Amino acid sequence: MQKFYNDLADWWHLISDPVDYAEEVDFFRQQIPEIIARDKNSYLELGSGGGNNATHFKQDFDDVVLTDLSNKMLRVSHNLNPECDHIKGDMRSLRLGRAFDFIFVHDAIDYILSLGDLQLVFETAYVHCKPDGVAMFVPDFVCETFRIFTDSGGHDADDGRTARLLEWNEPIAEDGITYKTHYVFALYTPEKPMRLEHEIHTLAVFPRADWLRLLHATGFEAHTIRDNFGRDIFIARKPAL
Ligand SMILES: C[S@@+](CC[C@H](N)C(=O)[O-])C[C@H]1O[C@@H](n2cnc3c(N)ncnc32)[C@H](O)[C@@H]1O
Repeated sequence: MQKFYNDLADWWHLISDPVDYAEEVDFFRQQIPEIIARDKNSYLELGSGGGNNATHFKQDFDDVVLTDLSNKMLRVSHNLNPECDHIKGDMRSLRLGRAFDFIFVHDAIDYILSLGDLQLVFETAYVHCKPDGVAMFVPDFVCETFRIFTDSGGHDADDGRTARLLEWNEPIAEDGITYKTHYVFALYTPEKPMRLEHEIHTLAVFPRADWLRLLHATGFEAHTIRDNFGRDIFIARKPAL
């Protein structure tokens, strides 16, 4: 398990501020007006991390369940979203025994490293989706949109802690699917030496056609749209009964 989502989890909201997710969540909610208009509607997120998306989406849903592999990220999310249910689970195998109007999978899907595992995630979404419900998947890239990038960020807390992040990726590996992203963190707590961390994460991209083929094979009616950040957003509807 990555240090980023465990030992460093308490720094998450200084690295990735929930406020910065407002614009994209606004775009996502515009794609599902009929789900948001439903009475007693329900939301399940797979790989919900620090709960940054949920902090905006929770206004639109009566019942919100957030799931993640990391107990520490769930705890950080619970501090931000105490009214939501938090459950530990792997998006490839989670089975809650109930169904939701909307299933959301954000950038956590980038950690799914094979088409076989991607199919398992789609099956998890399908069994938790009500008939006429929607699953939405937001990978950072598909093969066709992959690009080399460098990014930086970070925030200052009221208690004097500061976090800064430098992030960059490598080209897609020879397997045609995986690539590495480097994260360098500078983490400062008053009166302590600066803590520096470097971690490499392995992520994956798949061709758009494979996404759509596997979503259809699972039983969804699926299409993709582009958002303002140039990402493919996969919108998968489970047919009504
Ligand atoms: C970049 S963070 C997600 C941040 C999230 N978008 C937010 O709003 O805060 C990626 C998360 O994916 C989780 N993750 C990775 N693989 C997973 C899996 N197979 N099942 C569930 N969660 C997973 C990690 O534990 C981590 O919390």
